[in-house]
Amino acid sequence: MIRSVVRGTGAALPRRIMKNADFEGMVETSDEWIAQRTGIRQRHIAADDETTASLGEAAARAALADAGLTPDDIDLIVLATSTPNNTFPATAVEIQNRLGMHHGFAFDMQAVCSGFVYAVTTADLYIRGGLAKRVLVIGSETFSRILDWSDRSTCVLFGDGAGALVLEAGEGAGTIADRGVLAASLRSDGVHKDKLFVDGGPSTTGTVGHLRMEGREVFKHAVGMITDVIEATFSAAGISAADLDWFVPHQANKRIIDASAKKLGIAEQKVVVTVDLHGNTSAASVPLALSVAVADGRIKKGDLVLLEAMGGGFTWGAVLVRW
Ligand code: ACO
Repeated sequence: MIRSVVRGTGAALPRRIMKNADFEGMVETSDEWIAQRTGIRQRHIAADDETTASLGEAAARAALADAGLTPDDIDLIVLATSTPNNTFPATAVEIQNRLGMHHGFAFDMQAVCSGFVYAVTTADLYIRGGLAKRVLVIGSETFSRILDWSDRSTCVLFGDGAGALVLEAGEGAGTIADRGVLAASLRSDGVHKDKLFVDGGPSTTGTVGHLRMEGREVFKHAVGMITDVIEATFSAAGISAADLDWFVPHQANKRIIDASAKKLGIAEQKVVVTVDLHGNTSAASVPLALSVAVADGRIKKGDLVLLEAMGGGFTWGAVLVRW
């Protein structure tokens, strides 16, 4: 059977690093509060000339270089983002043009922090359905543009950045020993909309709006939703937590990551954590964490890797990949 195999990874971060202490003169907060409640120590913030498209392009170029491929080899670009450069056209098409790619097709996916998990699952179906052989899957965000910088309960949590994977069609035997995407499980439930949303949009206010979140409410649902969808993925693949080599969760809050890993019985040393360095970069958080763990040699060919995310909507999902 056809499997979607990871050929390359890449990442891009804005030049400017903002430390927790940099908020102390802006809102009533402290490095200690932010680090203790979230695990975040710093985040990257995009300058005017750094956009979702430019960061996404840089991450895509890095993933292509890692794969030893060029844009000519790609059939499809799927970009996960909630902070597109424009309402339309899709920022994926802008990235396609920036890469000098004038064949194939490109589109955006919007599932907020779960965007990358949705995008990998979608790319896998295009590959297995025979519509594409090589896909660039990108998560790129500039959440700094939609933050209310006077709201201490949200502005300290998010950062900007991008990460990318190249997925390529390969032959598999149909077992979990195959390399590639092995199983996935996606969920959403709009009943939770008001707990995490942006208070603007083209069809309502005609403005971009700002992020609004009832953090405590999101936290309350997060661990249960994350562990449910992971258990569904384990059962689809016929594996258990003990079989995993690496757990690469969405990087929103270290306490949510720790509680989820504990509930699932995933050992602490198998959990990739980058929330301290990047903050919550929404759809970019999982591919950014992946690129860090691949670059430092933790994730290696043949490893069993579990990706997971939960975010606005609510949306949530998990993907199991043999690297
Ligand atoms: N600095 C200092 N104090 C603060 C800050 C801050 N930056 N922000 C809030 N506080 C205060 C609150 O006002 C509150 O004060 P009060 O008790 O006087 O009312 C107190 O700290 C405690 O607030 P809580 O909201 O209860 O704090 P909590 O421990 O829940 O931590 C947090 C807040 C970090 C937001 C947490 O709830 C969280 O991580 N939630 C989940 C967020 C998440 O995972 N989002 C994922 C998806 S994101 C996406 O999809 C875009």
